[in-house]
Amino acid sequence: MNSAPVIAIDGPSASGKGTVAQEVAAALGFHYLNSGALYRLVAHSALRRGVSLDDEAQLGVLAAGLDVDFRGEEILIQNEQVTDEIRSEDVAAGASRVASLPGVRTALLERQRRFARPPGLVAEGRDMGSVVFPGAVLKIFLTASAEERALRRYKQLKQKGIAATLPSLLEDLRQRDARDAARSVAPLKQCPDARQLDTTAMSAKQAAERILAWYRGLDW
Ligand code: C5P
Repeated sequence: MNSAPVIAIDGPSASGKGTVAQEVAAALGFHYLNSGALYRLVAHSALRRGVSLDDEAQLGVLAAGLDVDFRGEEILIQNEQVTDEIRSEDVAAGASRVASLPGVRTALLERQRRFARPPGLVAEGRDMGSVVFPGAVLKIFLTASAEERALRRYKQLKQKGIAATLPSLLEDLRQRDARDAARSVAPLKQCPDARQLDTTAMSAKQAAERILAWYRGLDW
């Protein structure tokens, strides 16, 4: 068993998990795992190679063999930069589909656990506290209203010059949340031992500060 402390941050799409988790990791000097990126990479590779998003066996093989490198904020697959490409709404929808397949989740499990190295890890996703790191020292369920999350995603896309409309983003988010919550394996839900943090009226910095205060106040 690895003794590095893990902070697990789970929550629905566009709740700000990525930004908040990175801030917390930077403040503590911890490693950072963006587990959603792994599911996005599986979907991205499948779309590129023409593998069907229902073909569990093939997708499991793809997931087990992903040649991925996280370099700071950059994500490379077989040395090719795919950081922006995997943020697209097509890849996001594909990720949510492949993530419902047990064969894909199992293939990614050990890979995720290997990120827990000293001095510690901040891991964000949907099942960090429930499945991947059940022994995490601090579990957070980060939420925000669907409207606020759609607005945040809209602003992000606009900043990058990507066209999108608010109603369609809201609809996409709702569909993805419903699929993530309804799947039979590792569904999105708050663990009984997770602390809920609603960031609807909070900045990412404020949310990170709250988590850091919780972490520092832990009774070890
Ligand atoms: O967090 P992000 O939006 O990048 O995740 C993309 C998709 O990957 C999610 O919609 C979800 O279906 C899936 N996912 C998951 N388990 C995780 C992280 C992401 O099922 N730990």
